[in-house]
Amino acid sequence: MTNQTILEPLPEDQWFIESQELRSFVATVREISVRTADDRSQTLARLEPFFQELLAQQEWLPEQFAQVNPESRMGGGIGQWLLYRAKDRSLSIFSLVIPPGSTTPVHDHLAWGLIGLYRGNQKETVYRRVDNGSLAGHAQLQITEVRSLQPGDIYSLLPPDGDIHAVTTTSQSASVSIHLLGNDTGCVWRHQFIPEVDSVKSFRSGYSNAPCKEEEEKENAQIR
Ligand SMILES: [Fe+2]
Repeated sequence: MTNQTILEPLPEDQWFIESQELRSFVATVREISVRTADDRSQTLARLEPFFQELLAQQEWLPEQFAQVNPESRMGGGIGQWLLYRAKDRSLSIFSLVIPPGSTTPVHDHLAWGLIGLYRGNQKETVYRRVDNGSLAGHAQLQITEVRSLQPGDIYSLLPPDGDIHAVTTTSQSASVSIHLLGNDTGCVWRHQFIPEVDSVKSFRSGYSNAPCKEEEEKENAQIR
């Protein structure tokens, strides 16, 4: 269960919204993430003030990227809207929209990242894995932290630290969080856990508005 997906490069960087704020943030992310490639804790620390600034601005995210998605593959009407991804699949930025009362599955991300709450309120339950992963389909998790999040709150992922969590919207309206991840999170095979029965399975969330190249190829192969 530890194999990392290798994703094929895309023809070019993909932008799903037109926003000067996002463009300049991505330029900063690229610069800092290259400069600090050998120490991702530095990447996260240096990027945080810029991410804070992006979250403080409420105009740049188009309304359609703050909508729930009844067709969600994650379930619960959760929208996962891709805003940007790098052609080498080493960076992605997306919004995650969780309807009131909905909860994500317990999942991991398998990459460094910063996540910030943009609208609404959330409860985040953070887990750590305590078994050694040697038994297929089996995973034992322990809760390490439960946090209440307000708009502007940021948390970081530095696997294995903070990498496994579940998020619930606690506000009356949908919560919107912005995710900056060091992979093409929607397209990699990662893990979904059911802590109540100590189980784990492979999971690919996809995006609400963009296919994974690998998916298209698989579908084409099936048609042939
Ligand atoms: Fe997550």
